[in-house]
Amino acid sequence: MDELAFPDHYSYIADDLETIASAYNSLKAPLKYIITTEKDAMRIREFTDIEEPVKSALFYVPIGVTFLNDDKDEFDNLIVDYVRKIRKISDFLKDKGFTQPVAGIILGTGLGGLTTSIENRIEIDYKDIPDFPVSTVDGHEGKLIYGDLGGKKVVAMKGRFHFYEGHGSDMIALPVRVLKYLGVESLFLSNAAGGVNPDFRIGDIMVITDHINLLPNPLIGTNDDRIGVRFPDMGVAYDRDLIDQALAIAGKHNISVRKGIYLATTGPTYETPAEYKYFRIIGADAVGMSTASEVIVARHANLRCFALSVITDLGVEGRIEYITHEMVQAEAEKAEERIATLITELISSL
Ligand code: HPA
Repeated sequence: MDELAFPDHYSYIADDLETIASAYNSLKAPLKYIITTEKDAMRIREFTDIEEPVKSALFYVPIGVTFLNDDKDEFDNLIVDYVRKIRKISDFLKDKGFTQPVAGIILGTGLGGLTTSIENRIEIDYKDIPDFPVSTVDGHEGKLIYGDLGGKKVVAMKGRFHFYEGHGSDMIALPVRVLKYLGVESLFLSNAAGGVNPDFRIGDIMVITDHINLLPNPLIGTNDDRIGVRFPDMGVAYDRDLIDQALAIAGKHNISVRKGIYLATTGPTYETPAEYKYFRIIGADAVGMSTASEVIVARHANLRCFALSVITDLGVEGRIEYITHEMVQAEAEKAEERIATLITELISSL
């Protein structure tokens, strides 16, 4: 056995390659190996003129990680298995034909109709996708739909997952991460929301410019650097160019839109009058039970985000009326066509 030592974090030069090759050639064993660290193996292989016998003799030793607190299983579950699961689901979908989508779409309560405009579609029920969560809410059908919208390949989630259904952060984050692994670069979201801005009316569409997240942050827990950074910036959560383009598209089609801040709360109760008032005081224009979580996960994975709310009821002092989920669904459905026009044209402009 011969041993060659190079400094830590070393950048190899052509002469070093000759040194390694001559040490290798002077070994007298029938089977000869060069064992390095993983990084050194990568660096050495980068030389294109490396001799073939040397190249194929190159092996690296995997680094062993020692767990001090006997928490290897937890680590495997949290990091290794989780990323494997995301890959497995996206590979499954790619095999089904979900190839190279540019945009992801997540549709809110009563707003699934946009998917009827998707052409050349492939549909899969969430329940038929291995390891995928299933949605339990009426008005959220639970289907992933791939196809052409606005001349672009898209994947739409007809039905989303909410904290109030009991899904943990990992499950809320999973579909967005699957979209990212499929190759999506932008995410378009819609939701039904209660208006707390006194200028708003039922049926208005609000372009979300920012959010206040009062849901548990979906990134709480161990961070996987392969997905995104530990402390993601949220300075521009909603893409400014997409907002400007949406406003222009709305103007062109005579669709009146508001701009505003969406506040996400856990639900499943709608708000008391005092809560609506409080949300207005802290800066919200509309309140709902979704979207902010998905946008946080999407920004963590560096996706561009654009989101719309349909104002289905009002939480404005003196104008609050009794509401039910069915009323929210019915009001949202009335806005479907306008939402579809805005999102389809935005996607076609990507
Ligand atoms: N509050 C919370 N979520 C909602 C509302 C609301 O008033 N309307 C539709 N989703």
